[in-house]
Amino acid sequence: MSTRIDPATAMPVPFDVQRELERPEARADPFAAYARLRRLGPVLRWRSRFAENLVITRYDDVMNALRDPRLANDRRNIGDGGKSPLERWWMPSIMKLFLGSMVMKDPPDHRRLRNLVQKAFTPAMVERLNGRVEQITAELLDTAANKPTFDLIADLALPLPLTVISEMLGVPEPERMRFRELLGKVLEPASMNLVGLVLNYPNMLRLNRFLRRLVQLRREQPGDDLVTALVQADEGGDRLSEDELISMVFLLLFAGHETTVNLIGNGVLALLQHPDQLQLLRDRPELIDLAIEELLRFTNPVGTVSPRFAREDLEIAGVRIPRGSTLTLLLASANLDDTAFPGAGRLDITRNPNRHVAFGFGVHYCLGAPLARVEARIAIPALLQRFPGLRLAVPAEKIRWRANMGLRGLESLPLSVAPGHAGRRA
Ligand code: HEM
Repeated sequence: MSTRIDPATAMPVPFDVQRELERPEARADPFAAYARLRRLGPVLRWRSRFAENLVITRYDDVMNALRDPRLANDRRNIGDGGKSPLERWWMPSIMKLFLGSMVMKDPPDHRRLRNLVQKAFTPAMVERLNGRVEQITAELLDTAANKPTFDLIADLALPLPLTVISEMLGVPEPERMRFRELLGKVLEPASMNLVGLVLNYPNMLRLNRFLRRLVQLRREQPGDDLVTALVQADEGGDRLSEDELISMVFLLLFAGHETTVNLIGNGVLALLQHPDQLQLLRDRPELIDLAIEELLRFTNPVGTVSPRFAREDLEIAGVRIPRGSTLTLLLASANLDDTAFPGAGRLDITRNPNRHVAFGFGVHYCLGAPLARVEARIAIPALLQRFPGLRLAVPAEKIRWRANMGLRGLESLPLSVAPGHAGRRA
């Protein structure tokens, strides 16, 4: 007769996980902070600003949770009458839009929404953008080369993915930086409490109006772009409601640049801080694909996925997860877990295999992964080739990170180019 061991209850964390992970030192070098969480336990209990959370810290458990159909992305599918944090009465409508997006849906609704855009993001479709990505990169580097120092974020890492996704979606050029500015304000961590929401409310209204105007524009002036395709799919039958359409555009515009900015920015910084790996990549450019995967794993542009909700009582790593629990899956901690990646705290651009979870896993696996890979695979080598003497223009401790445990990214990255090397196209 087998004896059943009762599951344990989750270990309460004796500090605020978010505050801990958002400390500037932990942003700059998150390895120790995540290792500490993993040492505390596989499932930790933590009260965030919005809800009681169960935090999953280790690689195997994060992977399993990502493919577990007993975990829902849509809180409303638990069936206990509980609401999503985004449904609170005071939550501005722009935030509520996320509720209608695929990332907050479960099958079969999720599949229906994803199918509508999937074909625009297949590796084959994205390969066709290669030439355009190369062209935009070269133009941005031309401009950067005219300056003695430049900001990698403002001059390359941000405008490249923003231009690419804006062109795919058909956002008119003059509107792009405005979208970005509004988004930046709306997503500031300070706006994620009641006072911040009130202060930022006008920006949220502006962002909402921006998205609705874009859809309206493409209804009136169809183009060869994704918003037009979505609008037409919408009008061709009962495929997309107005809110679903707006949420889709919002999700694509947001996910299509914010994340890749971090990959390029964090990736270049990691290489500059590991001169042996940088030299190896310069000597063996064919390593670029492996290098991008390692930069994704090591620098974690996206630190967590959207919350998951337990549809039933279950167990993770021998810990009881009651139905209705909110789960925070720490992708970044999984990617830095030594039990899954030998020498996880070391950047090794030859690491192979490299089964990182930087793009998530399961049905919500990142739709834009092929696009992000193409952009990074073109931008990083082009930058290194153009500037053989590239180096940090400020001491490492002056580099400013954004305080956000969900997205790990730099405010700016001042770089300088050794004299005599700037300005030559390869
Ligand atoms: C380095 C760049 C990127 C990283 C690290 C990244 C990461 C992720 C992750 C972790 C998820 C899973 C979310 C979850 O399970 O809750 C996700 C989903 C998603 N990503 Fe990305 N992403 C990146 C770039 C992009 C780009 C360029 C796009 C372009 C449109 C994009 C669009 C999406 C969409 C639409 C989803 C939702 C998919 C679904 O729910 O089925 N991402 N991404």
